[in-house]
Amino acid sequence: MGFRYIGSKDKLSDIIISEIRNINNNATHVIDLMAGTGLFSLALKENNFTVSAVDVMTYSFHHLTVFLFMDKPPKFENIKNIDGFDKYYSQNQKSNYENLLKYLNDLNPVEGYFYTEFSPDGSPKNTERPRRYFTSENAKKIDAIRAEIKRIKAIGAITEQEHSLLLHDLIMAVNDIANIAGTYGHYLSKFVKRAEDNIILHPTLFSNKGNTVGHKIHKGYAEDIAPMLNGDICYIDPPYIKRQYAANYHILETIAREDEPEAIGESGLRPWRDQYSNFCSKLKIRDSFDLIIKNTNCQDFLISYSEDGLLDIEDLISFLSQYGTVTKKNIKYKRFKSNDSKKKAFLNEYLIHLRKTI
Ligand SMILES: C[S@@+](CC[C@H](N)C(=O)[O-])C[C@H]1O[C@@H](n2cnc3c(N)ncnc32)[C@H](O)[C@@H]1O
Repeated sequence: MGFRYIGSKDKLSDIIISEIRNINNNATHVIDLMAGTGLFSLALKENNFTVSAVDVMTYSFHHLTVFLFMDKPPKFENIKNIDGFDKYYSQNQKSNYENLLKYLNDLNPVEGYFYTEFSPDGSPKNTERPRRYFTSENAKKIDAIRAEIKRIKAIGAITEQEHSLLLHDLIMAVNDIANIAGTYGHYLSKFVKRAEDNIILHPTLFSNKGNTVGHKIHKGYAEDIAPMLNGDICYIDPPYIKRQYAANYHILETIAREDEPEAIGESGLRPWRDQYSNFCSKLKIRDSFDLIIKNTNCQDFLISYSEDGLLDIEDLISFLSQYGTVTKKNIKYKRFKSNDSKKKAFLNEYLIHLRKTI
């Protein structure tokens, strides 16, 4: 299944990178200001750019760590110290990484937070009706794997980067079996076939193209981080609709943060206001663009926006024109499939180039 992320630019990477080259053929350092899945940062890295990547979500930090800093599995040198791991270690010709995933896949299920809050046999704290994001068996497996990743990190058996890789792998495995239509905003009432499969951690396939040094990852608000950034081009891929990423991907954020927040309401949302995005508000979006454009040490900005966006494209262009010269390109793009079947299948995606002159 891979990523299921609103606005992911996976399929547009080539077009955006060729636009970056059109703007500045000598560019070597690109800022990916709202990096999400990290797939566009990965494409930049594979095209030999140095990347500074930013996103407010913690899961994005883990994806970016894997995509920007690794081109092969880390060594997992200290895992032989984990109790119970000896029968997996040195048993075969596989890498420590693959053996560790097997060890995690084989853990005994645990009735923990995911089981209680997100499975049909659970008894959620704040609502009567059990939620159905995962089958009870999968929820118990997720609980077991989460607890073990947290434990082996706490005892120093894995490094920060190895930790990010395991959380990335768990998020990808969870995406495969989540009982959702497109986002984690709500679960489906009946379990779909995919959700009934057993959760399995699969090894990440690395693109062994090198270029793993010199990148930077910042977790936080682009508006706050902008003054710390410089690059040849700043690519901005903001949310363009009202739906907040923090609310729609709350379960992935909980996996990434390794916590057990209060699960609120029917959907079991974590308290998410600390990751609220101004780009989902028609009133606040201009102030945020203003901070970013003024404070980022960069002359060229390339902004993705959509026909479906909160701001009308002509309004956005006239707003951006106060900072310099603006040009726009249209790309026809297949719409993200969530649960709205009434909308047309293709929409216009815009690439706006702003050359700052202020
Ligand atoms: C359209 S998605 C980006 C998708 C990304 N280009 C990809 O290919 O996966 C928008 C992203 O902006 C992030 N975001 C929203 N507001 C932000 C802000 N003020 N600062 C940093 N990141 C923000 C969201 O968490 C989300 O990941």
